[in-house]
Amino acid sequence: MSEVRSLFDQATRAPKALTFEEAEHQANVCTKCRLHASRTQVVFGEGNLQSSVIFIGEGPGEVEDATGRPFVGPAGQKLTEILESAGIARESVYIGNMVKCRPPGNRAPQKDEIETCWPYLEAQIRRIKPKIVVALGNVPAQYLLKTTEGITTLRGRFFPWRDGIEIYCMFHPSYLLRNPSREPGSPKYLTWQDIKRLKERLDGLQRSAKSE
Ligand code: URA
Repeated sequence: MSEVRSLFDQATRAPKALTFEEAEHQANVCTKCRLHASRTQVVFGEGNLQSSVIFIGEGPGEVEDATGRPFVGPAGQKLTEILESAGIARESVYIGNMVKCRPPGNRAPQKDEIETCWPYLEAQIRRIKPKIVVALGNVPAQYLLKTTEGITTLRGRFFPWRDGIEIYCMFHPSYLLRNPSREPGSPKYLTWQDIKRLKERLDGLQRSAKSE
């Protein structure tokens, strides 16, 4: 097994810029935080590396840990359904998580775990160069936007981030599984509006790229 080199610059403590391939390789053998001890498989991420949008969840759940693929359990099926409802094929986007190993009992990843894992996500974002990063739920939304505002306030809004990238926040699909009502104003109802808004934005980006 190859050695995992330090993910942080020794002098500045800034995350080292890994290539996508280095990040995938290092993540697969990573023992940098406590989450490695209970994982079955590392869940690096999957999808279209040319996509203009990345969806980011919290961390792998049970089915993801068993298969090594992001969002393939019940929450993943819900995410796929949400995407398809707006005419977005799952294969056309990139899907990942804040942490690449399953937090025990599906608890939320802790701040130090997210920070330790960040260079892998950073490498994914640098490689894919998305126009939009979709934060699914409080964990990615609050970490990426450096805010304590909750997802109910943040959802459905585009926030300028860095390198011309916008953060778009949506409810986590697991939250919709726990709140199945479709009544106007319900999380599910709002999510269907949010995904349509995202699709309109993506279509607009595609139109302007074509006319350039
Ligand atoms: N929940 C997440 O946040 N990510 C997954 O990959 C699966 C469930």
